Amino acid sequence: MHIAFVASECVPFSKTGGLADVVGALPRALAAAGHEVSIYIPRYRLTRIPEERMVVQSITVPFDDQYRFCSIVTGAGYPGVRFYFVDYPPFFDRDGLYGTASGDFPDNAERFALFCRAVLEASKILGVPDVFHCHDWQSALVPLLLKTQYAEDPAFRNAGTVFTIHNIGYQGLFPPEILPLLMLPWDLFTITKMEFFGNVNFLKGALVYSDFITTVSRKYSQEIQTTEFGFGLDGVLKDRAQNVTGIINGVDYEEWNPQSDKYIVAHYDAEDLNGKQHCKEDLLEHMGLNGANLNIPVIGIVSRFAAQKGFDLIGQIIDRLALEDILFTVLGSGDRLYEEMFMRLAKRVPNKIAVRIAYDNMLAHKIEAGADMFLMPSHYEPCGLSQIYSLKYGTVPIVRSTGGLDDTVDPWDPRTKKGTGFKFQEYTGDALLRTIHQALQVYRDQTSWQRLMRNGMSKDFSWKISVREYVRVYERVRQQHAQAILV
Ligand code: ADP
Ligand code: GLC
Repeated sequence: MHIAFVASECVPFSKTGGLADVVGALPRALAAAGHEVSIYIPRYRLTRIPEERMVVQSITVPFDDQYRFCSIVTGAGYPGVRFYFVDYPPFFDRDGLYGTASGDFPDNAERFALFCRAVLEASKILGVPDVFHCHDWQSALVPLLLKTQYAEDPAFRNAGTVFTIHNIGYQGLFPPEILPLLMLPWDLFTITKMEFFGNVNFLKGALVYSDFITTVSRKYSQEIQTTEFGFGLDGVLKDRAQNVTGIINGVDYEEWNPQSDKYIVAHYDAEDLNGKQHCKEDLLEHMGLNGANLNIPVIGIVSRFAAQKGFDLIGQIIDRLALEDILFTVLGSGDRLYEEMFMRLAKRVPNKIAVRIAYDNMLAHKIEAGADMFLMPSHYEPCGLSQIYSLKYGTVPIVRSTGGLDDTVDPWDPRTKKGTGFKFQEYTGDALLRTIHQALQVYRDQTSWQRLMRNGMSKDFSWKISVREYVRVYERVRQQHAQAILV
């Protein structure tokens, strides 16, 4: 089968979060299973393309005031996978993917509408896939256009669409006036299509028009059908419940593996954990906590700073946490509110909390390897990759039981010695504190702790299993299309 991925980020070309990891790794696994994958992504300022070559010089994208002309560039791929970059410097040659520290770019609707239209036109030249697999709101116009303005285009008769929700909290909401600017008809502005409380909602358009919808864990697929987690789209999803499923993300163990990680000072595995202590020492040195007693447990955090991630809970309990024998190594960037909160905490307890406000892939690896525990108290979490990485690194996750965190971490049971981490349900500082205490207590008994580490290290979240589920979804969509044509 030929599958075309359409997404706004992809490792190693662009990344702000886990979406890029998934779009980078899943095609590789699909190719290994014998499929052919094209990946369409924008070319940003930071995108470096090895063996760059132009494949389509000019694609015309209409806007109400003018035509815009973009190109498609390719670069080195690998067997079964080709990368296509939509090149339009006025929209994408900027610092940042979606905006700057002061907010989103004001023309994001235009940027990603151009991207989606360019993908459809480019695919007519480069090869129409059996399935377009689109990810998050930036790719939402692909399924929408295919079922509306492109519905009569014979080139796409056999092309199905699968849409994956990586985070329903980001929907692509714009004022209604955007429709004519993007050359989209007003009849899309109804409650059953793109209209959403007086605005245009890109994500809603995708949920209405895609052949099939997936999200990135089983639990999250249920949560988004509730008012608490649906961000206003739970009704739309419930209407389509027959065509919604959760497929847990895999991870790329070539990139995230303590046996081979190129960013850490010593390698280790479940049989021989010695290297982890060196990684801890190296991490503490990197974070300016050198000289700290290596027997004190280190809690690591690597995250986008956003309300979703639940860090306000740490703010609530910091005075009580400061009394404990623990160290924090925190890496993150994003929302100013949380950046400032963590910087304040680091100032208040400098010998215990070290904070780096940055996006730093090497340090992310060092924290995964060097910390003893990994904290993700998320308010909601569609899947979460960092806790899955931390399992492999023997860095015991402490998580709130929501979405993919709940699906991937099993609670430690001191009686049976089963389980891989610690979980809490109630979204309160007290519940988090109780869970950290529980973890600290087990840490004091190193025999149990090492068992717990090894339980996590032996888990396999490689893409093998999830790929089979995606292929089943693609097949189903393909069959639906074949039947629709026969009718
Ligand atoms: P989300 O996609 O919601 O941000 P995930 O857990 O799925 O959460 O994925 C986060 C990914 O982004 C991981 O690969 C993590 O290492 C990376 N990451 C997040 N923040 C940073 C940062 N400040 N520096 C480096 N990598 C980061
Ligand atoms: C989103 C979610 C995260 C998920 C990632 C990849 O950014 O916030 O939970 O792991 O997408 O699917």
